[in-house]
Amino acid sequence: MGFEQVQEAAAYVRERIGEEPRIGIILGSGLGGIAEVIEDKHVIPYGEIPHFVCSTAPGHKGQFVAGRFGGKPVICMQGRLHFYEGHALSDIIFPVRVMKLLGVRSLIVTNAAGGVNTGFQVGDLMLIEDHINFMGTNPLIGPNAAEFGPRFCDMSYTYTPSLRRAAEAAAEKLGISLRRGVYLGCTGPSYETPAEIRAFRTLGADAVGMSTVPEAIAASHCGLKVLAFSLITNMAAGVLDQPLSEEEVIEIGNRRGAELQRLITQIVMDCEEL
Ligand code: HPA
Repeated sequence: MGFEQVQEAAAYVRERIGEEPRIGIILGSGLGGIAEVIEDKHVIPYGEIPHFVCSTAPGHKGQFVAGRFGGKPVICMQGRLHFYEGHALSDIIFPVRVMKLLGVRSLIVTNAAGGVNTGFQVGDLMLIEDHINFMGTNPLIGPNAAEFGPRFCDMSYTYTPSLRRAAEAAAEKLGISLRRGVYLGCTGPSYETPAEIRAFRTLGADAVGMSTVPEAIAASHCGLKVLAFSLITNMAAGVLDQPLSEEEVIEIGNRRGAELQRLITQIVMDCEEL
């Protein structure tokens, strides 16, 4: 989809929200809680927005919620698209570009992920320092959308170092223990095999999931700062001698989502760069 489609979608949303948002927030599986506490709320279902594609993933709603959070104007995606649903990557990153045109400067992303690092535990929060794109494709393939960024986009500082430092400071202030690591993005929808997880560990991955990488690439391309967190909802395949379950992922999300919400609220309140 081209620049005009993004402009049309942004124009539709702009008319239906109050203040210009500065921060975009993308909420992962079972992590929709932040959207509930946004003040002066304006809710826009994706289905209403021109050129938008709707999400079908479990634990996901499909709407933008704009308003104030941590004292700042935000727009939050309650529900995101996943590649495994069969969407084109260009559709998956479309909302990121819409948020860019709405005035967003930083993107905060959360996801549910499997723990690859054997030092991790279920329920841990991980600050994403970097990613490995294991999806076998890239959302920027195709004609370059030069209105947003360059053909060959630098990924050296995708997970903005200064925002990561702000996250660490907020975690310390709140006494929340925060892991750090590399997120490896797969397409899903099958979970990984134990052999794949061993391979990913060798490659330097600490957590594995089925999202975030396309949005982070699109954000980097259009010059958005990114701050991203994984909630370790399960240990990845083969780490523990038990099968993985979708219910566990959602349940841990519900149980530990509040802690992540507390952390993100503090970061938004404290960090002047946001
Ligand atoms: N693998 C991939 N995606 C995930 C996992 C996992 O173990 N847990 C939550 N999302």
